[in-house]
Amino acid sequence: MNDLMSLGIHRLWKDHFIRNLNPGRNPLTSHTAQEKGWNILDIAGGTGDIAFGMLDHASTVNNDAHTKVTVADINPQMLAEGRKRALATPYARSDRLTFVEANAEKLDMIPDNSIDLYTVAFGIRNFTHKDVALREAYRVLKPGGVFACLEFSKVKNPVFDAIYKRWSFSAIPLIGQLVAGDRDSYQYLVESIERFPSQTEFRDMIKDAGFMIPGQGWEDLTDGIAAIHKGVKPASLQQVSER
Ligand SMILES: C[S@@+](CC[C@H](N)C(=O)[O-])C[C@H]1O[C@@H](n2cnc3c(N)ncnc32)[C@H](O)[C@@H]1O
Repeated sequence: MNDLMSLGIHRLWKDHFIRNLNPGRNPLTSHTAQEKGWNILDIAGGTGDIAFGMLDHASTVNNDAHTKVTVADINPQMLAEGRKRALATPYARSDRLTFVEANAEKLDMIPDNSIDLYTVAFGIRNFTHKDVALREAYRVLKPGGVFACLEFSKVKNPVFDAIYKRWSFSAIPLIGQLVAGDRDSYQYLVESIERFPSQTEFRDMIKDAGFMIPGQGWEDLTDGIAAIHKGVKPASLQQVSER
């Protein structure tokens, strides 16, 4: 359904998200020889798309066979799907990939200051208390760790926005009904995209959770249909006061 609705573009966005984060500790260029690999937490990652991509990138681009991903999702059926799909990857029976059932708003099983990179792709829009989830992200990240979110956002060009809204509000629920036999879920999808904060509002929410914001804080994809937001947990008290 995602492929059909986005004409496959969501795959390009996910690839770009992963390449841009460049996960993994390259043994040739890493300054911290004692630390092996990154500890990545992929929240709302049920299907495993992001996790498999991160591990592939770490292994093939950065020659890093130690980076690990924990996939957390609130829905056991999504995790079961992810586990099933993992069987077709080299990571299924390795300790580099773990699946846990968890609510992004209460990650009790993840210790404070333990994660190098927190990712959430097309998930945070569905969280009931996004501010609570952002504070949990802050808690679990190591100082200097990165929060990265790929999510539907607001289209910048007004003409394109009008066309896009027409397409999403009329075609997507209809495609949902015809292909998945589920009009209501796809109606909810377009409404949740409409309700999600703008790029600047979401950037400010990330800042309010305590993160430092690199540059303007986000990158628009396909004129803002989606956006990548980033925040960095300050590495020192001085950085906290400079935020
Ligand atoms: C559209 S899917 C995205 C899956 C994956 N990240 C991807 O990009 O293919 C949204 C996911 O968010 C999960 N989710 C919704 N609310 C959540 C919460 N509070 N905590 C953790 N996961 C949640 C859902 O179970 C679902 O698997």
